[in-house]
Amino acid sequence: MLTGKRIVLGVTGGIAAFKAASLCSKLVQQGAEVRVIMTSSATKFITELTLQSLSKAPVYTDTFDEKNPAVIAHINLADWADLVLVAPATANIIGKMAAGLADDMLSTTLLATEAPIMLAPAMNVHMYQHPAVMRNLAELAARGVMLVEPGEGLLACGYVGKGRMEEPEQIVAVVGAYFERQARYQSLPLAGKKVVITAGGTIERIDPVRYITNDSSGKMGFALAEAARELGAEVRLIAGSTQVAPPPGIQVQRVQSAEDMLQAVMAEFSDSDIVIKAAAVADYRPAVTQERKIKKSGDTMTLELVKTVDILEQLGKHKQRQFLIGFAAETHDVESYAMDKLKRKNCDLIVANDVTVEGAGFGTDTNVIQVYDAEGLALSLPKVSKREAALQILELACGRLTGASR
Ligand code: CTP
Repeated sequence: MLTGKRIVLGVTGGIAAFKAASLCSKLVQQGAEVRVIMTSSATKFITELTLQSLSKAPVYTDTFDEKNPAVIAHINLADWADLVLVAPATANIIGKMAAGLADDMLSTTLLATEAPIMLAPAMNVHMYQHPAVMRNLAELAARGVMLVEPGEGLLACGYVGKGRMEEPEQIVAVVGAYFERQARYQSLPLAGKKVVITAGGTIERIDPVRYITNDSSGKMGFALAEAARELGAEVRLIAGSTQVAPPPGIQVQRVQSAEDMLQAVMAEFSDSDIVIKAAAVADYRPAVTQERKIKKSGDTMTLELVKTVDILEQLGKHKQRQFLIGFAAETHDVESYAMDKLKRKNCDLIVANDVTVEGAGFGTDTNVIQVYDAEGLALSLPKVSKREAALQILELACGRLTGASR
């Protein structure tokens, strides 16, 4: 899978550094040539000898320890690499990269390289969620640095939460998928295209302290936004209420109600190439939003609801060359409801899923989807990560774009 690929593996000083040994070994087994750079903190967790034995090459730790007088090591490695992978990436190296600091072998190489960079962060959950780290990751993502997001679980510090470095097998799979995609496309298929994605649920206010919403987590829409960016698109993310944070580095416009979402989407619509309505939009809203908190009175209370505007239907009516993708989360008769929505809303594709199936629907990290076009079933995926589903949906759409560029 990685035959002949040159990977510089940067290892920084966190407890997850021990996993770098397995990662290095797996990369080599897949055919990659690996050169390891360790920070001095990393050498406190794992020895140079371990990584030297596994990579079968000298390990670099000191910018001034020039092993070959004919070259300058950090520039040489920076130019040699097809990919620089930092795993684990501590908050410190992330901060240094964001600020452009270069005070050791790894940070100088990271600054000198023109190769793509991928980070697998690992740290305490509170450190990961710290606004400074989030801001630094957003800055790096905006520069095109790829992120293998940490998983959730019991951390070495005893806390449970997000911050555990992704498992080596998973990182190798992401690296493999990256090279595979690069080989498949001569250039990024969505370069120069504008993709508008809605995510999350809408909030329809009853009064200042109460509202109607739904279970949408935002994960599918966010995965689509990340995938669209990875394929080279200019992404506009319009997000309602979500349970997870949006991907760093993507421009997000937050909205509340279906009406707000309609306005936000319409403002981006005319020059967009693909519009994906992954949001769970309320079908009804309170007829009146009370300005003051409703006080308790009788034993029963009736709330009058009125229909919201169907945003997707509006887009379907007004579309010119825009490629329109809708979603249909169903509990039964998936195909007939999906086909009905596709026609009624004039979509190019409908992504349908049966939310009663294990591993599909709201809140999960995986999905089980079927994609329909006017002819019927166009793509059916087994249980895959929302990220993989997102890439496959976008790849299907790419193949069907009319080629009209902005
Ligand atoms: N949608 C929309 N605006 C609405 C309601 C839905 O844009 N007011 C979009 C959703 O974002 C989704 C698609 O329409 O892409 C299907 O949403 P869904 O709620 O399943 O469709 P409905 O037409 O509302 O049908 P029903 O609720 O009866 O299943």
